[in-house]
Amino acid sequence: MDTPAVLTVSARSPLRGRIAVPGDKSISHRALMLGSLAEGETTIRGLLLGEDPRSTAACFRALGAEISELNSELVRVRGIGLGNLQEPADILDAGNSGTTMRLMLGILASHPDRFFAITGDRSLRSRPMGRVAEPLRQMGARIWGREGGKLAPLAVWGEKLQPRAYQSPVASAQVKSCLLLAGLMVDGETSVTEPFRSRDHSERMLAAFGAAVSVDGNTAAVRGPARLRGQEAIVPGDISSAAFWLVAGSIVPDSELTIENVGVNPTRTGVLDILREMGADIVLENPREAMGEPVADLRVRTAPLRGCDIGGEVIPRAIDELPVLAVAAACAQGRTTLRDAAELRVKESDRIAAMAHELSALGVTLREHPDGLEIEGEARWHGGEVRTYDDHRIAMSLAIAALVAPEPVAIQGMGCAAISYPTFVPTLAELGVNLLTAECSEQ
Ligand code: S3P
Repeated sequence: MDTPAVLTVSARSPLRGRIAVPGDKSISHRALMLGSLAEGETTIRGLLLGEDPRSTAACFRALGAEISELNSELVRVRGIGLGNLQEPADILDAGNSGTTMRLMLGILASHPDRFFAITGDRSLRSRPMGRVAEPLRQMGARIWGREGGKLAPLAVWGEKLQPRAYQSPVASAQVKSCLLLAGLMVDGETSVTEPFRSRDHSERMLAAFGAAVSVDGNTAAVRGPARLRGQEAIVPGDISSAAFWLVAGSIVPDSELTIENVGVNPTRTGVLDILREMGADIVLENPREAMGEPVADLRVRTAPLRGCDIGGEVIPRAIDELPVLAVAAACAQGRTTLRDAAELRVKESDRIAAMAHELSALGVTLREHPDGLEIEGEARWHGGEVRTYDDHRIAMSLAIAALVAPEPVAIQGMGCAAISYPTFVPTLAELGVNLLTAECSEQ
């Protein structure tokens, strides 16, 4: 079953069983990128087959990497070697993917004497690129774009960059990774200090590929020039995708779900910390490691949730899970306050406004703030029609909310789930959720 454009969800039966989630999106991007920049062959097992990694693969093919057909079993990448990027014959297209565009900018800007142009879809062309273009310029990069180089389409003339210790005003793994990737081609140390620690997949994977990476508190650094060697990469299941089932399993009565093979890197497990603080019953089973990343099976059982305060250092560790946590908050007893989360306004959509609007449409009482939401628990859910703003995480969060609404919820624009989780709707069906209509034409 493909992801339908309009999905009508109606379910009040328990969710039970063992499920697997697709490969981690962040790690999939990085495996394709580092494999492409390395010398020799990289094999990738467990790659996410979503549209975002496909954008990354297409960009690197245009730069000269040989990447086999994408497949979750095994992808083979024949790398070009750092410094050897080809000047592409056409504009690179990052699609909907902020990770692709921001990380690529560091790579492109640091490859001297080549011209690159990069664009993306409507959402990506409205997202802030100054946060990477500006520090890259401080290293000597030449980048042009709309609004003084803040918005894509962007044009880049590659230069030999200079090392720099950058203090980032935002905790963003995309900013940090962009500069570390640029630093691979720089003589000396390039470092990024963040207000809070963001996900560290780049640091872990760069080290595995042979780069000289160091981490000290909230500062990550790379010493260049680096040489990367092809590796056997393993991508664990995405905790951001598992989050939908962690919330569903908590709020749908009498549920018990085991989500297998989920990456539980501590820079990503804010969702577990928040749900546990709310009273969720989640157990980590069979903890193990795959290519330097911690992995476990997650078992969740229905539990009464209570509201809590969400803010501070946990925000970057739960940033993509905050929309579905808003659904959990609406089911909890008492009020939940989300603050320090203004970054949500510059994701694939303005996720604060989107969740505020669509959850209100389903009966939730909430207040919107510039940097978050105040959500009253024990919502009087009702059915209705909601829209996704073409944002995959909004679409899937609303599908989870629909599981507790007493009447059907029609979700317009569900197709975007394929960005990060192409098998989300089939998994809902596998769990016995009543999917009343599944229109296949895009709305
Ligand atoms: C990502 C980092 C996060 C996250 C995004 C993926 C990454 O963005 O929201 O989905 O792979 O580095 P920011 O780093 O901009 O917060």
